Amino acid sequence: MNKVSPSVMCIDMMDLKHQLEALDQAHVDLYHIDIMDGHFVPNYCLNGDLMAAIRKVSDTPMDVHLMVTNPTEFIEYCADRGADIITLHLETLDHPIRALKQIRALGKKAGIAINPATDIGQLKYMLEFIDLVCVMTVDPGFAGQTLIPSSYEKITAIRSMFTEAGYDVDIMVDGQVKEETAPKLVAAGANVLVLGSSGLFCHDPSEYPEVISKYQNL
Ligand code: DX5
Ligand code: ZN
Repeated sequence: MNKVSPSVMCIDMMDLKHQLEALDQAHVDLYHIDIMDGHFVPNYCLNGDLMAAIRKVSDTPMDVHLMVTNPTEFIEYCADRGADIITLHLETLDHPIRALKQIRALGKKAGIAINPATDIGQLKYMLEFIDLVCVMTVDPGFAGQTLIPSSYEKITAIRSMFTEAGYDVDIMVDGQVKEETAPKLVAAGANVLVLGSSGLFCHDPSEYPEVISKYQNL
């Protein structure tokens, strides 16, 4: 069974509480929280205050995708505001293993995100420290871009790397996960699907249970 993580940046903020209720009733597995600094990526997005507010109305775990230049300064910040999984970009880390250990030391799951053009070679030296790999299928920063096709083989290569070394890992896929792409992404080895406007929020909330369960059962 796959896990689904609706991308909160794609929710209509004027309708947030109602949308969260509908998503919880549809048994989503996680909420995907995009945090951007206007520096690592050319955009701003969600923040810890919003995470804390979500935590007050929902028990669904949150995964935070930190798209910032100095992510290690925000690990505790995210943990204190209700994050369950904290994902940092490999491109931003001088000492990735130290950062992953810092996350686990706070009792949270440690994730590594990788941009489409980033080589996955470094991962083989840190397999035992990683709970989740977030494979970006688009350059991060904006919803609604075009999926970069090499993402499929990259997912397969990451899955093999972990499996061959005897490690189980969650492989999250972020960017353009929708009806047309999701089956291929899952077949490639992904098991956590970030759903944005074209994958989920194009549907009426009354359709969420059916749509979510379809993705979970791919
Ligand atoms: C991109 C964000 C994604 C985005 C996905 O930087 O991390 O979470 O919201 O949206 P879609 O699926 O529309 O590309
Ligand atoms: Zn994201």
